Amino acid sequence: MFFNPLMMQMPGEFTPTTQHAMQEAILTPRFYTTDYKAVDKLHVDHMREEFEWIRSEFERDYNKGHFVRNDEFLAGFDDMPVRAQFIEFLERSCTAEFSGCILYAEMVKHLKDPTMRAIFKYMSRDEGRHAGFLNKTMADLNVEMNLNVLHTRKKYTYFKPKFIFYSVYLSEKIGYARYIEIYRHLQKNPQGLIHPIFKWFEKWCNDEYRHGEFFSLLMRSQPELLAGVNQRWIRFFLLAVYATMYLNDARRADFYQALGLNWREYDQRVIRLTNTISTQVYPVTLPLDNPSFFKNFDACVRYDALSRQLDAKGDAISKLRSARLKSAIGVRLLATYRLAPQVTTAANRWQGLAGFPNYPGVRANERAVSA
Ligand SMILES: [Fe+2]
Ligand SMILES: [Fe+2]
Repeated sequence: MFFNPLMMQMPGEFTPTTQHAMQEAILTPRFYTTDYKAVDKLHVDHMREEFEWIRSEFERDYNKGHFVRNDEFLAGFDDMPVRAQFIEFLERSCTAEFSGCILYAEMVKHLKDPTMRAIFKYMSRDEGRHAGFLNKTMADLNVEMNLNVLHTRKKYTYFKPKFIFYSVYLSEKIGYARYIEIYRHLQKNPQGLIHPIFKWFEKWCNDEYRHGEFFSLLMRSQPELLAGVNQRWIRFFLLAVYATMYLNDARRADFYQALGLNWREYDQRVIRLTNTISTQVYPVTLPLDNPSFFKNFDACVRYDALSRQLDAKGDAISKLRSARLKSAIGVRLLATYRLAPQVTTAANRWQGLAGFPNYPGVRANERAVSA
């Protein structure tokens, strides 16, 4: 389902960047909608204290003053390396951030529980800030992307609430992992710092980590979402999120190379970190140490590259061969899905991020249990 980009012809009334972001390519960031009434009916009272604690964390607004561009952003970037790819990176990131902003704002409109409303309001605030920062950075490069047009004209994908929780939780955590891995790499290798925006990633990714903490709590408050047949859905979303990123980044090797990163090593680090973090809530994760896992992913990358070459030729035989390669990607992913999952245990469960605030009640409980 992720590998067959269907490009929609957009009318010429928008700037090329806005048009591009609106194209419904399967691998591009999407906008989501859900059954808000069903979300409103979720029972959260039994964990009110923990939700309130998260709400108070968001209320602190740790990054209130962080997203302000400085003079470094006004330097000339006309001759920067991989300028077009960098702009595409900004555009995709901006669309993804804005998509979160809108989804969370819709939750605020539809939910009645005051704690939940406040949490979604704060998260929408953060995502709006992130999207705005990226949008202004694009404007600095003389690229215009109209977020209002995106809001009203981009197609929305409907997901059941539980699918929103699985996928948005992972988006937040993988977003954290992507940003922090780039930040740490550039700290050690400043020659790859092609633009100052990357210096903002450390505090930025903490917002994403915190958002993920909320979705982890939300899923823990609904234990049926983590049991039985839903474990298959959890594995499906883990695979979908990892595979989509891997294929996307393989197509953008030049961009990562300009930062001094090998896309494959970078992606594998990001996937490992996300998989480890997600043991905080998921009873099963993917078996990354199974030799077939990344072998299958690498095969998908090869098929995808060949298939794109054939698509570019455009003749009937090439199209047929390309279609065969696309189904081969599906077969590899299905085989990956069928690998025995890694089961979360007390020994391998993620214990939280060092230096990151955790709900104090949980620690108190743990002390009580171990005493
Ligand atoms: Fe964000
Ligand atoms: Fe976020």
